[in-house]
Order: sequence, then structure tokens, then C-alpha cells
Amino acid sequence: MDTTGTLFLPSAQSTIAPEVDALFNFIVLVSSILFAIVVGGSIFFVLRYRRRGDKEYTPDLSKNTQLEILWTVIPTILVFIVFFWGFKSYLKMNVAPGDALQIQATGQKWFWQFEYENGATSTNDLVVPVGQPVQLLMSSQDVVHSFYVPNFRVKMDVLPNRYTSVWFEATNVGAYDLFCTEFCGTGHSKMIGKVKVVSEREFNNWLEESGSAGEGLSLDAYGEKLVETKACITCHSLDGSPNTGPTFQGIFGRLERMQDGSEIKVDENYLRESILNPRAKIVEGYQPVMPTYQGILKKREVDALVSYLKTLNE
Ligand code: CUA
Repeated sequence: MDTTGTLFLPSAQSTIAPEVDALFNFIVLVSSILFAIVVGGSIFFVLRYRRRGDKEYTPDLSKNTQLEILWTVIPTILVFIVFFWGFKSYLKMNVAPGDALQIQATGQKWFWQFEYENGATSTNDLVVPVGQPVQLLMSSQDVVHSFYVPNFRVKMDVLPNRYTSVWFEATNVGAYDLFCTEFCGTGHSKMIGKVKVVSEREFNNWLEESGSAGEGLSLDAYGEKLVETKACITCHSLDGSPNTGPTFQGIFGRLERMQDGSEIKVDENYLRESILNPRAKIVEGYQPVMPTYQGILKKREVDALVSYLKTLNE
């Protein structure tokens, strides 16, 4: 397993990555050689042929056909090599194998949501099996985001009102960074996830467990898990400190002052509304930036969150 990485990128962990690196290294090498020739040549000529006195005049040269042909033909060949090499890899990167595992990916301010064929969902953690092609069908709930896994060398914009797609096959078990690489608002830098590459058996277990909506867990325990896995804590602290949104500490029964000056005592219905329609009532001092979880959370998940939030007063 190659964990060293290159000067520019972390280690290659997908089947396409070595191909991308090879072409990239070729371009860097050729560019470096040409840079040395051009800059070195310039410096050499400046020194060697500098004007040495008042009586010295520049000879009247018009052209050198052989040189002209040489510096036209060689770069043209290089450009064609880069084009065909790149085009071949580009096709490979864009056409997913027919048997690829399908996962829906949604970008929204400011987290990633993944949905699997059996209904299992995951926030910010993309869990995939090793050695198996995986295809993501991606779209955005709001603005343009961009899906980027440096270790896999794959990157694709995620747009509202349109699907884009990306595929990869992870070569090693591990956890790899997932970044949003399109500036999408104040929380852009927090839009960070992990691609968790696991063995096929582990993946199937995870899929089954995750698809069961927390069966076997109490509502409180399930809610506690969801606050982490659904990325609530990106914006809501558990320790009372202010963040993008109000803290969860002691939230139930708290008297909140709204933007319009009214006061609301936080109860179950207020919590539920704030999860599913977060912009209905905004607490004074905060921005209406929370995305809706309507259609993302199942009923039991909303119940579990409300139930867990009530426990944070003790
Ligand atoms: Cu999403 Cu930046």
C-alpha cells in the first residue's frame, strides 16, 4: 500500500489515481525541461551576446528555417501526446462500469448526504466497499458544491436542478478526506467529510444496520448518534458555546427571543418545526441559514432527535 503520496497530492488510493498521476508527472517533467531550455537559453544569450562597446552592432539576421521547424514540430507532438493520453483517461473517468454500486449524493449548506439503494442514509461519511466500482449520482439542494476526494483523484461539481456523476474504485481500506471545493457560503470550510473504505462484509453489515433507522436503540441513544452523524454539531454546540446556530445545551424549555421580537418557549413542536422547516422562526442574533431536513430524516429520526434534545437539560 502506497501511503507516501506525491509532492502535490496524498497517496493514490483508487484505480484511476495512478493514471492521473502518470500524466500529471509527465506534464510537470516536460514543462520543467522546456522551462529550463527557455530560461536557461535566455540567460545564456543575454550574457554571451551582450553589447560590449559603442562600435559593436547587431548582425542583420532574418530567420533559421531548420530551427523554426524544430520548435514547431516538437511542441506539437508533445501537445498531441498529452491530448490523447488525457482523453483516454478522461473517458475512463467518465464512463462508470455497468456493475457499479449506485449511491445518491446530495450537497447542501453545509454537509453531504448519501443515500443507498436499501434506504440507508449517511451524513458526511461516505461508506463504500473496497475493490468495487462505486458510482455517485449527485445533486445540490441549494448552491453549487463540488465533490473532491484527493486520494482518489476524482472531483466533480454538484449542481442544483441537475444530476452530475462521478465513479471510483477504492484500492485500499481506510478513511480518506472528502472536501467541498466550491465556495458555497460561510460554512464552506466546514463542509468536510470522510470516505470510509471498508471490506465487503463490513460494508454489508453497515448497510443493513444503517438502513434499519436505529432499530434496537432507544430513542435517546439513537438521537445522540444522529446529532453526530447528521452533522447537527457542525453548527450547534453541546456545551453552551455559541456557533452558527443556538447551542443545544439546555435547549428544551428555554425561552428564546425571535427576530420579530416575540418570545417562544422551546417545546417538542418548536423543535420538530425547527428541524423540518428551520426558517419558520429564527432566534434573534442568528441567520436563517439552516437547511431543511424535510425528506432527509425519517419519522423515527425526528422523534429520536427531539427526544435526545430534551435530555440535554439535566
Ligand atoms: Cu459546499 Cu463549499
